[in-house]
Amino acid sequence: MVKEARAQRIASYVADWPKEKVTAFQQDFLAWYDEENRHLPWRESQDPYRIWVSEIMLQQTQVATVIPYFERFMAWFPTIADLAAAPEDQLLKAWEGLGYYSRVRNMQFAAQTIMEEYDGEMPRDLKSLLALKGIGPYTAGAIASIAFNQPEPAVDGNVMRVFSRLFGITEDIAKPSTRFIFEGVVRHTISPQHPSEFNQAIMDLGATICTPTSPKCEACPLAAYCLAYQMDEREKYPIKSKKTKVTPHYYLALAMQDAEGRWYLEQRPTTGLLANFWTFPLVTLDKKSYTRFKQQWEDAQTRDAGEQILELVAEDEPSLVEHLTEEVANVIWQKEVVGEIQHVFSHQKWHVLIAYGYQAEVSDDQTGWYYPTGWSDLPFPKPQQKIVEILQKQKYIED
Ligand code: ADE
Ligand code: SF4
Repeated sequence: MVKEARAQRIASYVADWPKEKVTAFQQDFLAWYDEENRHLPWRESQDPYRIWVSEIMLQQTQVATVIPYFERFMAWFPTIADLAAAPEDQLLKAWEGLGYYSRVRNMQFAAQTIMEEYDGEMPRDLKSLLALKGIGPYTAGAIASIAFNQPEPAVDGNVMRVFSRLFGITEDIAKPSTRFIFEGVVRHTISPQHPSEFNQAIMDLGATICTPTSPKCEACPLAAYCLAYQMDEREKYPIKSKKTKVTPHYYLALAMQDAEGRWYLEQRPTTGLLANFWTFPLVTLDKKSYTRFKQQWEDAQTRDAGEQILELVAEDEPSLVEHLTEEVANVIWQKEVVGEIQHVFSHQKWHVLIAYGYQAEVSDDQTGWYYPTGWSDLPFPKPQQKIVEILQKQKYIED
């Protein structure tokens, strides 16, 4: 189903790209690359080892920075066998300044695999490449296409930028699954005769012309094919959602039980997050008082839990009704914290400390007190469910 939906979206993006147009596009693009390609040391041969090393280095740094690192790496470790046998300190020295040492460690591990399983020859098929440590879909596609002339997409952020503009692709590039859409569109357009040059042409166009800001469309060999250019929407692409910010919220949950075995519950307001759900009263805290309170409780150093809780309730005017203050005052509060739960909503992360109190005298006004057997009628949101689970585990609530 997901696969079908994906195939449909890919088909819709290339709907306006019949065979003749694809062929013309390839010709124009490859002709441009022939003229304009950057002369880079890893382009001097199709040695898969050199291409592999360059791609790993280029994942973290710009071309200009990579060149001297690349030259030195090749001088120190000219073959896969040399890399496999390299002493660790020299290996790390070769990577010093590039960051992410795990990448070079993974490369050495993969080189050893290649020595053992492939007789020192880089495997050619995508599946075997992907099975090597540190080689993901992008790197595998780059090696398969650039070194072995296979029509495989190699989709990274640059490719997504260029192709989103060309085809007006509105998928969110922050979503990992979006890569499949771009791979589908690249498969539709990649030159079957020259996949190596085709993929490298995208890389060069993305680096020199179709740049992240102010792309130079007037100098672009693909302007005639480009939807973003035609619609004058070059700045609209690629579409990338901002990571939604998750703000922390801190609460103290007041789990109050009376002598009859009932618990005090409140219904949340009719608007806002968790509207109309039922919970133990939640006192809003700031981070500082939350941390301090939690620490004191864990150390069992609360001078008087009840006094502190009353203070906190008094400070939190909006959410707590007046009569709750009375309820809270009639309750004997346990000195130790019962527990803590956390829950993540889409934009909020809740941290909730649980206080347990016992009301020996049953007051006349009994609104708000409910037996656990009646809880099934009251919708509990997830944080409340988690609190109840803790209370059950610790036998405050019989189950
Ligand atoms: N960026 C990523 N791979 C590249 C390559 N092979 N050549 C130039 N730039 C690149
Ligand atoms: Fe990128 Fe502009 Fe070329 Fe379109 S025309 S591919 S937006 S540089």
